[in-house]
Amino acid sequence: MTRTQQFHDHHFTELAFQARHLSPLRRLYRQMLAGCLADEFSFRASPGLHANMTWQYATSPAALAEFEHCLSESDLGESLSIVDGDSRLLAACFVIVAGDTPIQDFHVDYGQSEIPAGVTGTMLTPLIAFDPPFGHLDCREGLREFEYRYQIGEAILFDGKFEHRPQLAGSIEGGARVLVSWSIATEDERYRFAIQRVIDSQMPT
Ligand SMILES: [Fe+2]
Repeated sequence: MTRTQQFHDHHFTELAFQARHLSPLRRLYRQMLAGCLADEFSFRASPGLHANMTWQYATSPAALAEFEHCLSESDLGESLSIVDGDSRLLAACFVIVAGDTPIQDFHVDYGQSEIPAGVTGTMLTPLIAFDPPFGHLDCREGLREFEYRYQIGEAILFDGKFEHRPQLAGSIEGGARVLVSWSIATEDERYRFAIQRVIDSQMPT
């Protein structure tokens, strides 16, 4: 089964890529934390699913371009063709969990009825190794539940209708659990406004 078929039939697929392509994003993350980003790079924080979770969205064209570059330079670029044949990157962020987080409820990222399956995707990969006590991702397909374990050099791409939830996560003193998240969506104009509404609701104001 190809990745495109798996995404179509099961609402998720997995991609492997060379981890060296994450280096520019790791640098950007460190600079963001240290408050020493160059002028053209900006991020804004948005509250995540829990008080200890933050979404740091790329809010300048240069910052978003770094996330886009990671796709175009690596095998992760295939994600844009897996989602509805020809999609684009709408938004990208670092998902940062600092501190303990309880188990979350299952949710889908694009639940709105105007947005059909197959036209949106979220791709996640760890920026740094996910060692215990960091939690991974619980997934649900119909009645079947399974765990996706984050690994460096691997990414999960799931449809906007795919049910998932972050696992219970412990914390490491002074450390954070960081994922890179790409929000991918079709170019099809029929769904543009509904999809953009979802993105806008997550982006910092
Ligand atoms: Fe989600």
